[in-house]
Amino acid sequence: MDKILVHGGRRLSGSVRISGSKNSALPILAATLLTAEPCVIHCVPDLSDIHYMLQILSHLGAQVERASGTVTVQADKIKTVAPYEIVRKMRASVCVLGPLLGRHREAKVSLPGGCVIGDRPIDLHLRGFRALNAACRVEAGDVKVFADELRGSTMNLEGKQGPTVLGTDNIMMAATLAEGVTVIEGAAAEPEVVDLANFLIKMGAKIEGAGTRRISIEGVKQLHGTEHSVIPDRIEAGTFLVAAALAGTEVTLRRVNPDHLFSISNALKEAGFILEIQRDQITLRSNGGVRPLELITEPYPGFPTDMQAQMCALLNRANGVSRVTETVFPQRFMHISELKRMGASIELEGATAIIHGATELSGAPVMASDLRASAALVLAGLVAEGVTEVNRVYHIDRGYESIDEKLAGLGAHIERVKEPRPR
Ligand code: EPZ
Repeated sequence: MDKILVHGGRRLSGSVRISGSKNSALPILAATLLTAEPCVIHCVPDLSDIHYMLQILSHLGAQVERASGTVTVQADKIKTVAPYEIVRKMRASVCVLGPLLGRHREAKVSLPGGCVIGDRPIDLHLRGFRALNAACRVEAGDVKVFADELRGSTMNLEGKQGPTVLGTDNIMMAATLAEGVTVIEGAAAEPEVVDLANFLIKMGAKIEGAGTRRISIEGVKQLHGTEHSVIPDRIEAGTFLVAAALAGTEVTLRRVNPDHLFSISNALKEAGFILEIQRDQITLRSNGGVRPLELITEPYPGFPTDMQAQMCALLNRANGVSRVTETVFPQRFMHISELKRMGASIELEGATAIIHGATELSGAPVMASDLRASAALVLAGLVAEGVTEVNRVYHIDRGYESIDEKLAGLGAHIERVKEPRPR
């Protein structure tokens, strides 16, 4: 298993290009199952999660070709069973259920495992499928959905932790080929949901309201192939803004959509940083110290849970006590124990991290866990005294395209150590 060594103390400057969004590309790749015609998707990031999704599509019988950032998929003859040995690697595989149900009226996918950020139920997805007149069964570790005919209806998909992103995606995809009109109340409004809706509309789907809590889909007979470019990854962009806030003098991010970064930019401005926003670029300058914050993660357009760990790393530098409350995945604090090993002073009270700032961090061997927690440890290493060794970097490679090379390009002293593969 590779590891990343971060030598702390270097200042970052210059510019970095942000990749296409992982959380947009995954459901859009799944949506290619809705048509027998070829779909061409540009700006697909080179990530292991994307590789797993392409494996699943191939296993289902689709022809898949990748040429650098462009993926072409043609799913003319497909099976409807996604097996455990592939699905277990990535829980987002659950988003093939909706297109398979829409196209073939049946699907069987191995249940996604839990993960370190907490239990990952799919009860809201099943609530939506049942509302479309599908039967759902969970047996022997698989989830099966099937319907003689899919009928549109009005449903509310919100759960106790708020809307579901992939649940909204799944129902929207299935509903494009259902009879009649489907209305999703309590829908997720993330930019990635909007990007998927725009892709489906290009395929001939009739969708209104994407980006709001109420999405309506009028079913059509069939969908056709199309071409699409995936939006920039707002979480990768946010991660690099925090890197710049921690270790930068002045860093510019290229190929971003500033509208998708509003809550992140606001938090960094409140913490005392200067952000210069242009059409598809954003520059962050430090302006002296870091002010402490009270942050609460919320569904979009609130502050994203996927940026919580990175902000905890930053707020160790704040002049005062910060409180970070996690409402989407209340257990998502794997990074806290590792940051404390580096000298951070943080207490957990339920789903709130209390961060006593102005602590000097020292490099240490740390263990990567969830994708964003792992990125937070690399960021902390940028300003830690000495060397931080981040193990199990496959977690990071799931969601960040060449994070070590991009940070090195900004001046960080960072290296990837390839561990010999066990024989
Ligand atoms: C998506 O996951 C993202 N993944 C996650 O990003 C992100 O953290 C999450 O949305 C929230 O924004 C992808 O898009 C591939 P949810 P998703 O369904 O859709 C509960 C990353 O780091 N829930 O919106 O799986 C759930 O437990 C990843 O890139 C149910 O109770 O998340 C959670 O508390 C991590 N029942 C809340 O809803 C359900 O059926 C939000 O989950 C589904 C979800």
